[in-house]
Amino acid sequence: AMACSGMYASANETGAPSDVIPKPAEVVMNRGFYNLPDGGVTYFIKGNADAAVRSLLEQGPVNAGAAKKMSSANIRVEIGDDADAEGYTLEVTPKYISIKAAGARVAYYGLQTLLQMTDGGRVRQIACCRISDEPRFSYRGVHFDVSRHFRSLDFLKKQVDAMAELKLNRMHLHLTDGAGWRMEIDSYPRLTSYAAWRPQARWTDWAKEGASYCDGPGAGAYGGYYTKEQMRELIDYAAKRNITVIPEIEMPGHSHEVVAAYPELGCEIDGPVEDFCPGKEATYEFLTRVLDEVIEVFPSEYIHIGGDEAGKAAWHKCPDCRRRMDAEGLNNVEELQSYLIKRIEKHINAKGRRMIGWDEILEGGVAPNATVMSWRGTEGGRKAMAEGHDVIMTPGEFCYLDYSQDAPFREPISIGGYTPLEKVYSYEPVEADMSDDEARHLLGVQGNLWSE
Ligand code: ACM
Ligand code: ZN
Repeated sequence: AMACSGMYASANETGAPSDVIPKPAEVVMNRGFYNLPDGGVTYFIKGNADAAVRSLLEQGPVNAGAAKKMSSANIRVEIGDDADAEGYTLEVTPKYISIKAAGARVAYYGLQTLLQMTDGGRVRQIACCRISDEPRFSYRGVHFDVSRHFRSLDFLKKQVDAMAELKLNRMHLHLTDGAGWRMEIDSYPRLTSYAAWRPQARWTDWAKEGASYCDGPGAGAYGGYYTKEQMRELIDYAAKRNITVIPEIEMPGHSHEVVAAYPELGCEIDGPVEDFCPGKEATYEFLTRVLDEVIEVFPSEYIHIGGDEAGKAAWHKCPDCRRRMDAEGLNNVEELQSYLIKRIEKHINAKGRRMIGWDEILEGGVAPNATVMSWRGTEGGRKAMAEGHDVIMTPGEFCYLDYSQDAPFREPISIGGYTPLEKVYSYEPVEADMSDDEARHLLGVQGNLWSE
């Protein structure tokens, strides 16, 4: 790819593998160019193309139409029957462009590579080359915090489109947090009639002015939520672009909005309560009923249960928490948290799904089948991998997309930190001292876009 920029003087008008993000695994540059005809690009598919491949060809930036046979098509696609295959080859010759993929999913990625080289259809001349590509990791995620800043369904679809171009395949939705509950749950209507709304639009104003909620929608109520039908629409839209949407329901911390709507789920103490009470049986009834409704809507293998930053202070004082700790032989509040997470994992596994949690779920003993999402550096992830757990790396230093990209006074509101694009892109999740046995448990990486 480096040779290319030196070889072609008019590189900005010639599409080449060096334009492709992420960088393809293997590239050989060849002599000459292929010019996509201005009068209409044609394609032919041999094998099982799914609707995603066809619509990307026909409605994507080159607006290709079907050719009658392979030998007359500009873009020639051959697809095998291996639905799980990851690799494809893309060959640009002076006479045609060929994409060979073992299955429809990777054919889609081969096409995305080609379309990136056209810069949205604008660049018609593509350098001759042969690309052999496959992803290093099966999990390639982006996380969106729609609690602190509610986003429209159209906004999320736009992110899905951008993710698909970059071969990202997991959209993690942070659907619940103190700043607002965002998914319709039939069993608990106050989550969306009350906990989804707040008097202040800006999260910072809201936090400063008492972090309260209000009935909504209506004048003076900021917020919103997704209906189940809207979630299904997004899931379907994403699936057509090879993206799985993973829901996150936060527990036992970051749950201020829930205990505001249903105070009986918080601890019995004097003073403010922001987390679930892991002592009360009502908490487990709430969480399992909510998760059942979430699982019914989201087909994703993984369900994210949060698990980060629970305050735990109230648990020391709460009689229900004390009773639970005595009854279950739990030595401290970390073990009490672990008790809750393990119980929840059992429920999720019984429904045939797998649980992900932020790395705090390691504290007090990790649930037996849990996948760990490492955000406080990579230490938690390393520990989990050593214990045989699957891991997704998303260390703040590299992967928090809400950090500043530039000097703070030139930037919109951010939480601090500094992650310019170059630093994000430089992240190497396989650390030098990681054994193959450990690295086998590294499912992939994720960028986290928190709000405000
Ligand atoms: C997190 O940033 N609290 C996961
Ligand atoms: Zn309690």
